[in-house]
Amino acid sequence: MKKSLLPARLDLAQSITGLVLAVFMAFHLIFDSSILLGAGAFAFVSGALECELFFGEKIPLITTAVVIVIFAIFIAHAGLAMRKFPQNAAQYRTMRSHMKEMRHGDTSLWWLQIWTGFAMFFLASVHLYIMMTQPQTIGPAGSAYRIVFEWKWPLYLVLTIAVVLHAAVGLYRLALKWGWFEGQNPNRRRKTLKKAVWIVTVVYLTMSLAALGAFIHIGLTGQDHFGNAVEGIAR
Ligand code: HEM
Repeated sequence: MKKSLLPARLDLAQSITGLVLAVFMAFHLIFDSSILLGAGAFAFVSGALECELFFGEKIPLITTAVVIVIFAIFIAHAGLAMRKFPQNAAQYRTMRSHMKEMRHGDTSLWWLQIWTGFAMFFLASVHLYIMMTQPQTIGPAGSAYRIVFEWKWPLYLVLTIAVVLHAAVGLYRLALKWGWFEGQNPNRRRKTLKKAVWIVTVVYLTMSLAALGAFIHIGLTGQDHFGNAVEGIAR
């Protein structure tokens, strides 16, 4: 019987969509964290992403279009990942007992990825839908208002932790799976890779959570942490 190429193709599609989303997130969290440089910096970045410099005014439809593309990749990635979820209670129990017996770090990472991915089905969908339908609200005042007075901070708190961990573990597993950085001493390489991934994870988590704090500060006080007034936070 001829072997089907479908499983390998689906695996490749999952890797590619995951890589695209991880690269997107690496930029997204840096742009988001421009709020740490003050309200003016975030206004400049969000304006530049909507081509304000080119058209002389923001074009929110650009954000809507980008979100539709990212949302589609996100849904494809999540759909492909469903193949990897334990399908019933027996499979779940087997997996848990293997994990306990083996105490293998990389197997626990896989488990972490499953759970953070599961959480993102819901959390990221809420965020993406709001960004797609209300792009005109993005800015220091509108974003701070949404985070504080529309109660998005708990969602962003959990989503930030989930997405950074998920992307970090995903990239680590991709690097191992496709043999990036392979060399003479694979064990040493794996340890170095793990260390590098952890450092990047801690940097991203610290930066993004500090950014969330900066938005909350603007929402509560009406000014950024440099003391610049932020107009337009209607309570
Ligand atoms: C093109 C698609 C996207 C756009 C336009 C977008 C836009 C934004 C904006 C403007 C903020 C600032 C807060 C606000 O205004 O509500 C934000 C925050 C955030 N976004 Fe996105 N986003 C996109 C995709 C995603 C995806 C796919 C994820 C994760 C799966 C994500 C995760 C987050 C998180 C965790 C925060 C809070 C960061 C923090 O803690 O400071 N975003 N996003």
